[in-house]
Amino acid sequence: MFFADLSFTWAVPFVLRAFIKTGISEYLLARPATAEEIAGALKLDEEGVRRLLAFLEAKGLLEKEGASFRIKEAFKRYFDRNSPFFLLPYLERLDVFLDTWGRLDEFLKDKDKARKPKISFETFAKGLFPINWEVAWSLKGLVGRARRVLDVGCGSCVMSIPFAMDGAEVVGIDYPEVVEASSKWCVGRMGVRDRYSFICGDMFEVDWGKGYDLVILGNLLHSQPSKRVQTVFRKCRYALSEKGKVAVVEFVKGYGNMPYVFDIHMFIHTKSGRVYSADELKEIASKEQLEFYSCFCLDPARGIVALLFWG
Ligand SMILES: C[S@@+](CC[C@H](N)C(=O)[O-])C[C@H]1O[C@@H](n2cnc3c(N)ncnc32)[C@H](O)[C@@H]1O
Repeated sequence: MFFADLSFTWAVPFVLRAFIKTGISEYLLARPATAEEIAGALKLDEEGVRRLLAFLEAKGLLEKEGASFRIKEAFKRYFDRNSPFFLLPYLERLDVFLDTWGRLDEFLKDKDKARKPKISFETFAKGLFPINWEVAWSLKGLVGRARRVLDVGCGSCVMSIPFAMDGAEVVGIDYPEVVEASSKWCVGRMGVRDRYSFICGDMFEVDWGKGYDLVILGNLLHSQPSKRVQTVFRKCRYALSEKGKVAVVEFVKGYGNMPYVFDIHMFIHTKSGRVYSADELKEIASKEQLEFYSCFCLDPARGIVALLFWG
């Protein structure tokens, strides 16, 4: 296990990014092709293309017919530029994260002095759509139906789209540039634009409105210190209808390794963000009279958990 962690775990995202950026994925979306045909058409190194395709076949993304490769039907959407499942916006972040993680020792010595990249969610929010889609459907299965939903820090709206597809009216809150570049684009592509309206601005400053039967906080609280998390919970309580619920979806400590990795990620990339344990979140929520009633691990491999509260 320890040695598996040390062995090229960073390689898969790079292969996928090169598969897209060289144009191979687009070429294969249009037709099945051999390594020789692809290399010839795209002016690439044939031996390199052969090895990359062999890896993706072993990974289960490609299938072979004779000497020709094709992308398996179930994976085509991840390579289609016009789909919200397109993986490139997510993979584009690799260089930033390799740079910052590669200087973790600098951050540990003096976090304030370490050079920090400017991170904007304007387009990265779109990149989180494919990553969180299955988790979003697990949340929907757990919560059931909702009539009026507030998605705070909505990003791509991935967490609320399953509710919108089931007829809910959704209000999304995020910064204006994120709403324009990611939220509206994703809900449009998923065919639910008419179910959505947006409140643009800083969630601590804008009025959230009232009467929601579900407020979703999807991957939002880890960027905030506990005092600010409490403020978010207070705003939730004011926004909820009488029998309304809050759904927190987060990396939660105590569920495998990944939340601890993400905690270091937050140490590097935020001023005072952190990953919380379930008990810490329950305690902060109780200060705002939110009553905890359920905790369910939506993705055991990544340690992503839903915590549900009554208002
Ligand atoms: C990690 S993303 C999660 C997006 C989405 N909820 C999901 O689960 O994929 C966090 C989102 O919260 C938004 N956000 C963070 N702080 C915010 C604030 N103070 N006001 C409004 N939006 C905020 C970011 O712009 C980003 O879109």
